[in-house]
Amino acid sequence: MVKPVRKAIFPVAGLGTRFLPATKAIPKEMLPVLNKPLIQYAVEEALDAGIDTFIFIVSEGKEAIKDHFAPSPELESMLEEQGKHDLLALVQGAVLKTGRAAYIIQDQPLGLGHAIWCGRNELDLDNEAVAVILPDDLILNQSGPGCLKQMIEIYQNVGGNLAAVENVPREQTNRYGILDVVSEDGALAKAKGLVEKPDPADAPSTLSIIGRYVLQPEVFTYLDKKERGAGNEIQLTDAMAQTIGHIDFHGFRFEGTRFDCGNQIGFVEANVAFAKAHSTS
Ligand code: UTP
Repeated sequence: MVKPVRKAIFPVAGLGTRFLPATKAIPKEMLPVLNKPLIQYAVEEALDAGIDTFIFIVSEGKEAIKDHFAPSPELESMLEEQGKHDLLALVQGAVLKTGRAAYIIQDQPLGLGHAIWCGRNELDLDNEAVAVILPDDLILNQSGPGCLKQMIEIYQNVGGNLAAVENVPREQTNRYGILDVVSEDGALAKAKGLVEKPDPADAPSTLSIIGRYVLQPEVFTYLDKKERGAGNEIQLTDAMAQTIGHIDFHGFRFEGTRFDCGNQIGFVEANVAFAKAHSTS
């Protein structure tokens, strides 16, 4: 029996410097692709995968994220009075029910691993695994299930730690966590090691981790040590790598197209692709 996955962590405490000055006052995760902010796509993907608890790791100044998922009584009653039921449904559709969302402050940007560690007290680390979604990585799978739903289905069979992966051009390996692959089985690549941001010449493969994970509690034991890795940050990849040998690690080649909305071109490409998908659906 694998440990169930009912909770998801959304690490959204980063500074979003690549979008300055837009992100001076607006969190990067609130930038919209069409009419919805990035963070809402991430939450909807988690809901679709059966997640019932949403743990947001935020920094000071990201109140807009909490506001987005809270009710807006004045706006809602105005839309109701005006008979704008379609818009009312959109506004109410973004609300997370009380008790389903937690907002935890990461007081210093010490890295993705540290951000995830900040969510530990919201988890039952004896009995459950946890999903992690980085809203920057937006995945469009027009005709099929969302990426996290695909992952949780495959996780029920293989267990262990799981991360979404795709091949990147070799010159980009220094931006990603990269798998050292030991065997392949369909959509799954089993890793014997992981390296965070290797130089292209040293990368063991070009199979790179993108922002979707299912993590076993043991990963938090390694994050507890707060060891610094690439960029002097506490890296999730390093903690996952240290569990290999005790716990299987699989990369999962998901169905869908991923857009890196953490950079400006990827964000524009996502807007164009979603607009096209919207107009044909
Ligand atoms: P990025 O590397 O994209 O950093 O983080 P960033 O700060 O968001 O953006 P830039 O590079 O300055 O433009 C990847 C993910 O990890 C989260 C970010 O919020 C983003 O979802 N993160 C990163 C944290 O939550 N805390 C950290 O300390 C670092």
